Amino acid sequence: MNRVLTSRGILASALLVAGIGVAHAADLNVETLDLSKMSAGWQKPLANKSVAGADLKVAGQTFARGIGTHADSQLAINVFGTATHFSALVGIDDEAEGKGSVVFEIYADGKLKATSGVMHANNKPKRLEADITGAKQIALVAQSNDDGIDYDHADWLEPTLTLNDAAPVKPVAVEAPNLAGVDDEAPLPIFASAKPSAEPQIHGARVVGSTPGRPFLFAVPTTGEGPLKFSAKGLPTGLKIDADTGFITGTLGSAGTYTVALEVRGPRGVARRNLTLIAGAHKLAQTPPLGWNSWNIYYCGVDEDKVRAATDEIVSLGLQKHGFRYVNIDDCWQAPRLADGTIGVNTKFGEMKALGDYIHSKGLLFGIYSSPGPKTCAGYDGSYGHEDQDAKSYASWGVDYLKHDWCSYGGVADGNGPTPMDGLERQKHPYATMRRALDGASRDIVYSLCQYGMGDVWKWGADPDISANLWRTTGDIGPSYASMTNIGFAQSDHALYAGPGHWNDPDMLFLHALKPNEQLTHLTLWSLLAAPLLIGSDLSKATPFTLDALSNDEMIDIDQDPLGHAAERRAQRGSTQVWSRPLWNGTIAVGLFNLGRAKTKVSAKWIELGLRGAQPVRDVWARHDMGRFTDEVALDVPAHGAQYLIIGTPNAADYTAQGR
Ligand code: GAL
Repeated sequence: MNRVLTSRGILASALLVAGIGVAHAADLNVETLDLSKMSAGWQKPLANKSVAGADLKVAGQTFARGIGTHADSQLAINVFGTATHFSALVGIDDEAEGKGSVVFEIYADGKLKATSGVMHANNKPKRLEADITGAKQIALVAQSNDDGIDYDHADWLEPTLTLNDAAPVKPVAVEAPNLAGVDDEAPLPIFASAKPSAEPQIHGARVVGSTPGRPFLFAVPTTGEGPLKFSAKGLPTGLKIDADTGFITGTLGSAGTYTVALEVRGPRGVARRNLTLIAGAHKLAQTPPLGWNSWNIYYCGVDEDKVRAATDEIVSLGLQKHGFRYVNIDDCWQAPRLADGTIGVNTKFGEMKALGDYIHSKGLLFGIYSSPGPKTCAGYDGSYGHEDQDAKSYASWGVDYLKHDWCSYGGVADGNGPTPMDGLERQKHPYATMRRALDGASRDIVYSLCQYGMGDVWKWGADPDISANLWRTTGDIGPSYASMTNIGFAQSDHALYAGPGHWNDPDMLFLHALKPNEQLTHLTLWSLLAAPLLIGSDLSKATPFTLDALSNDEMIDIDQDPLGHAAERRAQRGSTQVWSRPLWNGTIAVGLFNLGRAKTKVSAKWIELGLRGAQPVRDVWARHDMGRFTDEVALDVPAHGAQYLIIGTPNAADYTAQGR
């Protein structure tokens, strides 16, 4: 790291050399820090260049020094109390073609110290400075105004930290989750009735699929004071329920649709609910998968202990009782293939079969990751040329879910393989190959495509030769509100392609990177989208707020709705949006979103939602009935937050999928 002495520093040094006791100061050019730790809403921040790689230029003036980034962006710097002052000029780079609007802010230990107000393209660079004496951490934040992040090329020009003489440690850029951003508004009162009722209640999927002849495991998700006793009427031949655990296990004999009447008795009452079992080929994931995945928290640092810990936490934190059931290892578990071509497992993991058995012993399911290419995205061996062998290894370990990530397959498709491919064949070939391999294995394995939405995967992912259960619709989600909202609010167009057994996947949850209101936006939107809810966090560090939000059965019930209609955007006004989806019992789920930076009223208008007359409205997050409304319901929504409603009168008490 360079420390650049400015004239002030030189003067202070000179005075000190001369024996005059003034504290001397040195300045640090902030662009010399490790900018890989800095987040951006588009591309990557660059030192001394605009975010698109041109000279830094604002309102016609060129700057040699600075950082070119893109809203929403944050640079967190641990200054360890060694800095006294921060100063920079800020503005929108001229490359933004006269568009874009950004607010630049400086935070010290989470407190807003200076703001530029809204800067528009062509505005002259503005001086932003702050006294940061004593701060442990500062953050430079560039946020979009309320109009989205398009064209928000944000420049920090000549950014300079003044360090005091005592500075024994150097400031260092760090990855920090969304330190600063919107005003810290109180989250919605989701705790109000968050305590699960002592009476038994059954949650999670109402419809579950399985292939006859293959092992089946479904633990009935149930809350309530124990001891609970489970029973089930109408279970098809080959399946049984354990009265104490509520695990339904066995092997279905023949294809068909079965209605199973579940009953759970406890000291505080009885719960009953129908569970539909659909037995047949390619009938898995009748509702979107719920669970956990290692990538968004551990990346390649995943190991067996962490996976076992996540397994235990899904149980001990009660998430299993609300329906979470997959424990998925992402990339970085592999070792080079053995002499006979069997995929190796690296030393961070022991016996995969033992791990699978452990996960199953808790009533949970086991997921794994590979690539159709020769290498995974992290450079481990992929499945190319070994698909059958790998599918058999997975089945022998007890794997229930495969995420299959395109990664290096482009090289094969472009001609490194036997035949170059183009068009749809290029997209489908690798996934059809693994589909055949999975069909040949002795186990039900949910098939998750990860190819970032290429070739409009939602249009062909459910074709019989692929029969994917879910497909990523986008590139990777990142640890920021900007990334989450850029992905989530762009999902309306392919809603119609999602349905039971085949889901759009806007990528995994990143709750630990978000503020409370932003977490509610994430979960409201993802459950409206009928998206898989795969928690990407270290559950041992999850806050009570996050756990309560994840344990909200009404939110999960919407995600798991058996009709499987994904939500679409019904209205957009300024920085607010309204999305809705129909539910099986004739009601609709509605999300009111505020993407802006200040609290505002958002209105759900009947005319936009296809409703008429007086309708009962229920608040999903607060779990209470709000009464009847006519024509519209308008509610305050916090900055970056969401309100979640169910509107309408249920037309049935229980769901059975007869005739589906
Ligand atoms: C990416 C994928 C991520 C993660 C990663 C592992 O391509 O989108 O979700 O799986 O690879 O290397």
